[in-house]
Amino acid sequence: MGYLMFKHAHMAMAFATLALFVGRGLHRLVMEPQTVGPVQKSFNYMSYGVDILLLVLGLYLLTVWAATDAPLMWVGTKLIFLVLYIAVGVFAFRPVLPKPYRWLCFSLAVLLWVLMYKTAKLKVPFWQWFG
Ligand code: HEM
Repeated sequence: MGYLMFKHAHMAMAFATLALFVGRGLHRLVMEPQTVGPVQKSFNYMSYGVDILLLVLGLYLLTVWAATDAPLMWVGTKLIFLVLYIAVGVFAFRPVLPKPYRWLCFSLAVLLWVLMYKTAKLKVPFWQWFG
């Protein structure tokens, strides 16, 4: 019972992080705010909180899985997608690249979220998805 509750909390945080990423990203790319207002600040803090919870819950789920004989290669590939997601997310948010490249990074980040989701659902590394 406890484990399922943590797993559903982890899943809820995964959707929350995507919603916050898309909202904050579109705001920065479309509105191009020059200053960080109080609303933007509170969404930023909300996003940090959600991400910390998502990762802590994920690590807890991993400790439970690690105590079984189940193969864990899929978790490794999910973490690689996570590192790439964070990296392209940073470039989508910061105005260091020209706008079209920032849009590309934004789209790649959303694609990487989908790859993480698919990996979590199938529980096999991506090279085994198609048999
Ligand atoms: C530190 C990072 C993470 C770790 C260690 C981790 C670990 C895990 C583990 C071990 C499970 C298996 C739970 C189970 O089915 O019993 C799981 C499930 C899941 N994870 Fe993560 N996760 C992490 C980050 C993420 C992220 C960033 C996403 C965003 C897409 C995500 C989405 C999911 C989903 C949707 C499930 C449930 C899949 C299902 O229905 O069975 N996880 N995670």
